[in-house]
Amino acid sequence: MASKPVLTEDGSVTRFHPEYEEHYHSMCGAHKEALKRFVEPCRLIEVALQKGAIRFLDVGFGLGVNLGIVLHELQSRAPKVSIEVVSLEKELLSLSDLRPHFASLPGKETSTLLEQLVVEGEVSNTGLKMELIQGDALEQVPLLPGEFDAIFLDPFSPKKNPEPWQASFLGALWEVSSKGGILSTYSVAASVRMSLMRAGWEIGLGPRVGRKSSGTLASKGSVDPPLPALDPKQRRSLEKRLTE
Ligand SMILES: C[S@@+](CC[C@H](N)C(=O)[O-])C[C@H]1O[C@@H](n2cnc3c(N)ncnc32)[C@H](O)[C@@H]1O
Repeated sequence: MASKPVLTEDGSVTRFHPEYEEHYHSMCGAHKEALKRFVEPCRLIEVALQKGAIRFLDVGFGLGVNLGIVLHELQSRAPKVSIEVVSLEKELLSLSDLRPHFASLPGKETSTLLEQLVVEGEVSNTGLKMELIQGDALEQVPLLPGEFDAIFLDPFSPKKNPEPWQASFLGALWEVSSKGGILSTYSVAASVRMSLMRAGWEIGLGPRVGRKSSGTLASKGSVDPPLPALDPKQRRSLEKRLTE
């Protein structure tokens, strides 16, 4: 069954996946979610400007929206920085389905770069290296050379798509993160937060995007400034459950 395009509130288009019965993005806006949930809380621009280079991991290429938005933000706000990205996808849609989503992304070259990435599996230009690996992220991540400054964890929900939320996989992500690397996800499930903690991540509160709840941020070691704190009661309850 083919997924269907659906308009979100910021005017950008997402899709509905008929088997997972979920949208690929928040209905408050596909483009808005990419910026507010992933680019900003992972501090990509700040890290890129500070280091002169940035390497990030995109779990769940989907419609290429997170990747396209971050690419545009980096190229326009940190133009001299060298960018390296690995994107993982186990169910790549056809180019004809993906094209309209690419075409609506900001930036003159974003659409062309994503199209080349899908067709060739990689892009290697001066200052820009992108790789799209088709396959199960659970098998692919342990094969990746670290270290990533940021990780976008964006599969479908833990209820419908439980595998990429398992503690063992979150541990594999911890292994490939750089020290001080930040992972962002929309999930606020206690089970996901506990699995992140078990895997060694320090966790904090993600931003509220649209009407949806706030999401979760995780860092490998502490970061400066610190991640926004979870509600103290919630944190105590998670810590208590972890020792039971
Ligand atoms: C919510 S959508 C991602 C949307 C995407 N980040 C974007 O910006 O367009 C979830 C994606 O994760 C992919 N996915 C789910 N489980 C996966 C796995 N184990 N390995 C790789 N990709 C997976 C799905 O096929 C789907 O394309």
